[in-house]
Amino acid sequence: MSIQRTQVAIIGAGPAGLLLGQLLHRAGIASVIVERQGGEYVLGRIRAGVLEQTTCDLLDEAGVGARLHAEGLVHGGIELAFGGARHRIDMHTLTAGKHVTVYGQTEVTRDLMEARHAEGLTTVYEASDVALHDFDGTHPCITYTHGGSAHTLHCDFIAGCDGYHGVSRASVPEGALRTFEKVYPFGWLGILADTPPVSHELIYSNHARGFALCSMRSPTRTRYYVQCPLEDKVEQWSDAAFWDELRARLDPAAAEALVTGPSIEKSIAPLRSFVAEPMRFGRLFLAGDAAHIVPPTGAKGLNLAASDVRYLSRALIEHYGDKSSAGIDHYSDACLKRVWKAVRFSWWFTSLMHKFPDTGEFGQKLQQAELDYLVHSRAASTALAENYVGMPFEAAGHPV
Ligand code: APR
Ligand code: PHB
Repeated sequence: MSIQRTQVAIIGAGPAGLLLGQLLHRAGIASVIVERQGGEYVLGRIRAGVLEQTTCDLLDEAGVGARLHAEGLVHGGIELAFGGARHRIDMHTLTAGKHVTVYGQTEVTRDLMEARHAEGLTTVYEASDVALHDFDGTHPCITYTHGGSAHTLHCDFIAGCDGYHGVSRASVPEGALRTFEKVYPFGWLGILADTPPVSHELIYSNHARGFALCSMRSPTRTRYYVQCPLEDKVEQWSDAAFWDELRARLDPAAAEALVTGPSIEKSIAPLRSFVAEPMRFGRLFLAGDAAHIVPPTGAKGLNLAASDVRYLSRALIEHYGDKSSAGIDHYSDACLKRVWKAVRFSWWFTSLMHKFPDTGEFGQKLQQAELDYLVHSRAASTALAENYVGMPFEAAGHPV
């Protein structure tokens, strides 16, 4: 049995927990991260790969931006495919010079892990039975088992960065939490392959057979997705079947240009929107997927996690530095304002681009009309572009 103390106990070593730890360290605030899995397992999870400018800025602030700037691909537009043709949304022009950076979440996590390791900061991997105590009082702690023995970590605050299936949200007393959820009636089958990207920008395709997305990780590695029924099992999908389905859902020029190859990874993910409110209970803060999930259309998940961590790190720095609780008190409301905007955008983009089993031809006709409007109206294109590149944190002096 060991007893330790830190200022902030962070549960979960995904991007949210690691980024928070790094930002706090840079401000002289001590943290310990406790993670259920091993480091290699965490790095094995393939997630989205589009970073907003504000996320890149925060990674710079955390001192982990070097490889991101060297290897990340700067994209000033996306392509929407429908009706047999592609239409470019020039985000750079429509947002007065903004862009996104294509850089895999796995690489963000790796950079953060390496920085934490280089600074000699503590991450306890393979911790089991993590439990949270007394976060509604003034002396919270967490307990866990590691290496066969029991540990207690006393702290000032607990950051619940342990994802959708984590213990933090589950520890909040029933009745103190409201949840909002929408489950979509399909999944995404994704593959990773060492093939050159079919186009230099991402293609989001609306097709009668279902949605498809052509994304990338580098000039030689692609990440492609097709919408699939929820019941599908990944074993049912050979590489050849995947490539045939993707090709069938692209415009003729992209279908012709598509280079195929063996998959390195193949998986199916369900799509859901989920929000838990509020995001703070006394001395426990939820951040990232622990508090909210968005469907991957538009790649907002990691960016939202970074937005929470930005607010939380600033709130804790204000608490320790200025002895002010303003940031802490405002944390949940500030996060949720941005969360709901991203939830709305991800829902809208998902609804526009996918084939829904229950809306029939009427639904398809509406999608076609909206897509046609979207690519021909500067106002509608601008609304897509400014959401895609990410909302600013402040506009005219007011938090957005
Ligand atoms: N105890 C300790 N750690 C836990 C526990 C637990 N009981 N439960 C889960 N964890 C760990 C998971 O193993 C995982 O490594 O918490 C971590 C949570 O990481 P993520 O799921 O990656 O969540 P987050 O850091 O919020 O990142 C959000 O991930 O799902 C994507 O789209 C999402 O890109 C976004 C990002
Ligand atoms: C990805 O590269 O995995 C990706 C990109 C854009 C999305 C979703 C996923 O909207």
